Amino acid sequence: MCGIIAYSGNRSATPILLNGLRKLEYRGYDSAGIAIHSNNSIHIYKQEGKVENLVKSIGDYENDSTHMSGNLGIAHTRWATHGPPTTDNAHPHGASASGEEHNIALVHNGIIENYRALKSRLEGEGRVFHSDTDSEALSHLIDSYYDGDLAKAVSTALKEVQGTFGIACLAKADPGKMVVARRGSPIVIGLGDDETIIASDASAIISHTRQVIYLDDNDVAVIQGGKVDIRTLDASPVVRDIADIDWSEDAAEKGGYEHYMLKEIFEQPTAISNSIRGRIDTDRGTSVLAGLQLEPRDIVDLQRLVIIGCGTSMNGGLVGEYAVEDFAGMLSEVEQAAEFRYRNPIVGSKDMVVAISQSGETADTLAAVREAQCKGALVAGLVNVVGSTIARETGRGIYLHAGPEISVASTKAFTCQVSVLLMIALKFARSRRLSHEEGIKIAKEIERIPELVEEVLKQNDHIAKLAEDFVDYDNMFYIGRGYLYPVALEGALKIKEISYIHAEAYHAAELKHGPIALLEESMPVVALLNEGPGKEKTLGNVEECRARKSPVLGVITAGDEEAKINCDWYIEVPASPHYTATITSTVALQLFSYHVARLKGCPIDQPRNLAKSVTVE
Ligand code: G6P
Repeated sequence: MCGIIAYSGNRSATPILLNGLRKLEYRGYDSAGIAIHSNNSIHIYKQEGKVENLVKSIGDYENDSTHMSGNLGIAHTRWATHGPPTTDNAHPHGASASGEEHNIALVHNGIIENYRALKSRLEGEGRVFHSDTDSEALSHLIDSYYDGDLAKAVSTALKEVQGTFGIACLAKADPGKMVVARRGSPIVIGLGDDETIIASDASAIISHTRQVIYLDDNDVAVIQGGKVDIRTLDASPVVRDIADIDWSEDAAEKGGYEHYMLKEIFEQPTAISNSIRGRIDTDRGTSVLAGLQLEPRDIVDLQRLVIIGCGTSMNGGLVGEYAVEDFAGMLSEVEQAAEFRYRNPIVGSKDMVVAISQSGETADTLAAVREAQCKGALVAGLVNVVGSTIARETGRGIYLHAGPEISVASTKAFTCQVSVLLMIALKFARSRRLSHEEGIKIAKEIERIPELVEEVLKQNDHIAKLAEDFVDYDNMFYIGRGYLYPVALEGALKIKEISYIHAEAYHAAELKHGPIALLEESMPVVALLNEGPGKEKTLGNVEECRARKSPVLGVITAGDEEAKINCDWYIEVPASPHYTATITSTVALQLFSYHVARLKGCPIDQPRNLAKSVTVE
């Protein structure tokens, strides 16, 4: 989704901002732009399409002594919401009453919900708009209040705004100054030596500094070189903690892999080890999750664990639901976060709500967190990005420690989420009904996950080869039962996200209640057939598929000859209980989706229309 990068310091801003835009590309975007304060003017360049189009349009900025040589600037990647992805709709948006020069330039993430009313008022005052965006209304609004004090103009304007924003703003008449602010859309301030780099996420800052401040909602910060002055909307000074980014720049690079997605798939043994390190107590057969801030007595008192999330995170949550019921005998349910927030959910002080989010910024999940808090539930975050809004607002929870996930399609975050959810289920189970012996068994199985995943990764060449047979299909079904049903959901999501093959997941038993009408030669079925409960029944469903000429790709337990003969293709994963087979089988299907998409020539890391972090409803 949209990305912001801004710079104030002694160095030339343009190369820093253009590099920052490249680092933000992974978020998904369709146009880009930059504004530089130089020689008493604001110079704006914007282009639809990729950052490299923008770079070309700027020309030889390194030898430019006027336009682009300033050391104060803002830049943006836009993911279209209001108006198509055109150059006019790209940010920054300049504004002035006369429309001749830019007195103000603004980049904005989020949505200004009352922009129509603001726009018609400002047009009534004679202002001319050049885009369809909500953001341009904010740019003009700020300009309309500007009388030499940019922070005051920004605060006055933001008080009138309904909706969400992360912004960075410049004024022509304030050569050394930038104002940034947030409500619901993240802004991270990177503190360098006599310079400040601002971005919507830390990946664009890490090459400059590891010391950052995360703005809170309704903070307005004035940046001048290395000076940062943070205030509330009412201009009262506030102090925000300085945090250290705990991952290196290398972690956000491709490291020799063709795509970030492949790198992240292969990072999973390490990422999962980092997620579980120090959190498993095999002697006591339990897990140590201090971040949940729960004593055994608190767990006994809980009635229900509600898990909320969107997309891949919701699929991970479903495994959590099964494990909590299975291990702990405790009521648990997973809910789509947008649905939860809008349907007046029944939750209260006896419920714990776990919000799962890789980014920690997904708008629907964040709103669901606030709704659950409002109803008195205990709310915890299961988040990857340190310092993100959900992590901070929940105040309790568990970081995944998966490292930066750059590819839009989530892979390592999912397997780390499931690993942590299994640990939560184990902890809850040990405080309730699970024996010491059973606890030790599960704890040891969780510890085995990284080596099991290593085994699956060895299948990469085999999976790449069989993927060749799938590039011409337009539709697919995925089926599974029990713990393997969420795997079917995640497998189908992954292939549609990156290869654009239409895929639907069904509980294997549901196939005959409608979808079976679509089975024919051109409709392959991916079946989760790991040894364990329900396998024989799913094998029966596979027979039904093959009887109707649908070819079947089985994900099977290594060496299972019975499963092999029932499948046209198969991928073997190591034997393990179904609760960890969720992870091994998902890794197999990640590789499968990756290779199909690669063979089809799809833009794997940035699939069309998708965004890494969805900060709008
Ligand atoms: C977007 C991403 C998905 C992700 C979902 C939830 O749709 O493209 O990969 O699963 O958001 O994101 P979150 O950051 O909350 O896990």
